[in-house]
Amino acid sequence: MFNPKQIRDDFPIYYHNPHLIYLDSAATSLKPISVIDKLNEYYKKYSANIHRGIYKIAEKASEEYEESRKIVSLFINSKRSEEIIFTKGATESLNLIASSLGQALIKEGDEIVTTILEHHANFVPWQQLMAQTGAVLKVIDINDNHEWGVATYSKHGKVRIDISDVVTTKTKILAVNYVSNTLGTINPVKEIIQEAKKINPAIITVVDAAQAAPHIPIDVQSLGCDFLVFSGHKMLGPTGVGVLWGKYEHLQSMPPYQFGGDMIREVALEETTFNDVPHKFEAGTPPIAEIIALKEAIAYLKYFGFEAIQNHEKQLARYAIEKMQQEFGERITILGPREFERRSGVVSFVLNKIHPHDIAQILDEYDICVRAGHHCTMPLHHTLQYPATTRASFYLYNNEEDVDHLVKGLRKVVKTFQK
Ligand SMILES: Cc1ncc(COP(=O)(O)O)c(C=O)c1O
Repeated sequence: MFNPKQIRDDFPIYYHNPHLIYLDSAATSLKPISVIDKLNEYYKKYSANIHRGIYKIAEKASEEYEESRKIVSLFINSKRSEEIIFTKGATESLNLIASSLGQALIKEGDEIVTTILEHHANFVPWQQLMAQTGAVLKVIDINDNHEWGVATYSKHGKVRIDISDVVTTKTKILAVNYVSNTLGTINPVKEIIQEAKKINPAIITVVDAAQAAPHIPIDVQSLGCDFLVFSGHKMLGPTGVGVLWGKYEHLQSMPPYQFGGDMIREVALEETTFNDVPHKFEAGTPPIAEIIALKEAIAYLKYFGFEAIQNHEKQLARYAIEKMQQEFGERITILGPREFERRSGVVSFVLNKIHPHDIAQILDEYDICVRAGHHCTMPLHHTLQYPATTRASFYLYNNEEDVDHLVKGLRKVVKTFQK
């Protein structure tokens, strides 16, 4: 049974900080005890390196590590576990794709398409690639409802995508986010991929699922994408571990991103041959404990199920938006789509022209943690003409009392600035 109050008992941080109102899960999530215990288990019981030693604890570490790969593979419905590459986060996954695909695929005059609402991690690597190769970066804008400008919805929520102005036969890569970390928009990724592939069947599609994987069931086969990335730490897992999923045939043909131990088959003075996928992309000693503990985060999410988690977050976001609007009326601007069903548990806002850093600082006096700033989406903030916003983001351990505290805290912020 989904009970956020009981769920908190699984998160030791609440025991150590009994007054904590944590509303910054889009930055990083809290960690349940099962994940922390698994990290400790590795260090206490079998902290050997993987894929090297032939003694028992090394074999145990390798088994646990490879089991995580299988569990992640099932988690996103990948066809084979070799399609899962462990990285240190979504950022590294995206850099790996841009760098490796860039070498293998991109030349002057080619086009790369992304959107204005990308996190810098899914924007800057493409921009850099463009500078290195002479490729052209095209950017999809947003509409008045803070959704992709190429998407229109019918009354019944059916989406139509028109990307004929942006995607052409010259477009080699389309890189888009699934859920916006700033606006909370759940984007119609499957539909845009379908439309892009109609225009150019050879297009490579990259999905940044950093804000989706913690909240939405991911099915890479149903999405029809070529690559998908996410970070462990935003989905209850440890920091320092990320996932890159790619279609096997792409991964096989791509050059390695880094060179060193474990990624080689044979090294001679003159030349080196590389290991098979996925090891070709996992050079050096990986974050073993973190990768092993990631499977506990997945087990925890699966125990409650995404339907319950999503319903809970949407309900909280709705409660927060309605309460803030009731309290502050015209003085507050809430970003993101008006329709609640197209939003995740992210609520960004601008209040009374008070600087978000001041808001966050005053809220911190009441142990309320929110994010203030540009949330690594400067091009989006520039388009919206706000240098900064305040963001509250909800997860399964939050409850309506957290929202009540937030609104009470914001009331105090407004009073402070009225003085
Ligand atoms: C949408 C999105 N993409 C990518 C990232 C980068 O994730 P990480 O910092 O874990 O590499 C983030 C982090 O906030 C994000 O929200």
